[in-house]
Amino acid sequence: MKTCMIFYSGTGQTRALAKGAAEIVGADLVEVRDRANYSKVMMYLKGAPRARRGEKAEIEPAEIDVGAYDLVAIGTPVWAGNPTPAAHAIIAGLRNCEGKTAVAFATSGAVPGGALEKLSKALGARGLSVVGTFHASAKDLKKGDGPERLARVIRSASGA
Ligand SMILES: Cc1cc2nc3c(=O)[nH]c(=O)nc-3n(C[C@H](O)[C@H](O)[C@H](O)COP(=O)(O)O)c2cc1C
Repeated sequence: MKTCMIFYSGTGQTRALAKGAAEIVGADLVEVRDRANYSKVMMYLKGAPRARRGEKAEIEPAEIDVGAYDLVAIGTPVWAGNPTPAAHAIIAGLRNCEGKTAVAFATSGAVPGGALEKLSKALGARGLSVVGTFHASAKDLKKGDGPERLARVIRSASGA
C-alpha cells in the first residue's frame, strides 16, 4: 500500500514522530507550513483560539493531491484540545481523496482532548475512511518508541 503522511508541526514533536514512522513504513512525507508563522507566544495568543474555533489556516502547499496513494495519514499537534488550524487546512486542501483509507495522529503535552475525533470527523466529511488513530503525549514521546507505535497503526490500517 502506498502511504502519504501529511503533517503540521509547530515546535518539532509531530515532525520527529512523522519522520520516524515514515522511514519505518516507507511513506512519502509532506510537511505543511502555516503562513501565519507563529512564534511560540503567538501560537498560544492567536493559534490556540483559532484552533478552539475550528478555523482553517493558510498553509503551504495549499493543496495536496493524494490520488496516487492508498492510505493517507494526517498528523497535528493538539492546540487547546483541538487539531491545529493547519490540520483543518490540510484536510480541506486534499485532492482526489474520496474513498481513501486514513489514519489520524496527534502529539500533545498531556492529553489529546477531542482532537483525534475532530480530525477523524473532518476526514470523514471529505470521503476518507478513518481506520486508525494514534496519540502520543510528551511522556510517550520521551520514551522514543512513538515512531514504531505509529508505524504499527499505519501497517494495520494498510491491511484493513
Ligand atoms: C498553542 C498551544 C496549545 C497547546 N494546547 C495543548 C492542549 O490543549 N493539551 C495538551 O496536552 N498539550 C497542548 N499543547 C502542547 C502540544 O500539543 C505539544 O507540545 C505537541 O507535541 C507539539 O507538537 P509540535 O512540536 O509538532 O508543534 C499546546 C501547545 C501549544 C503551542
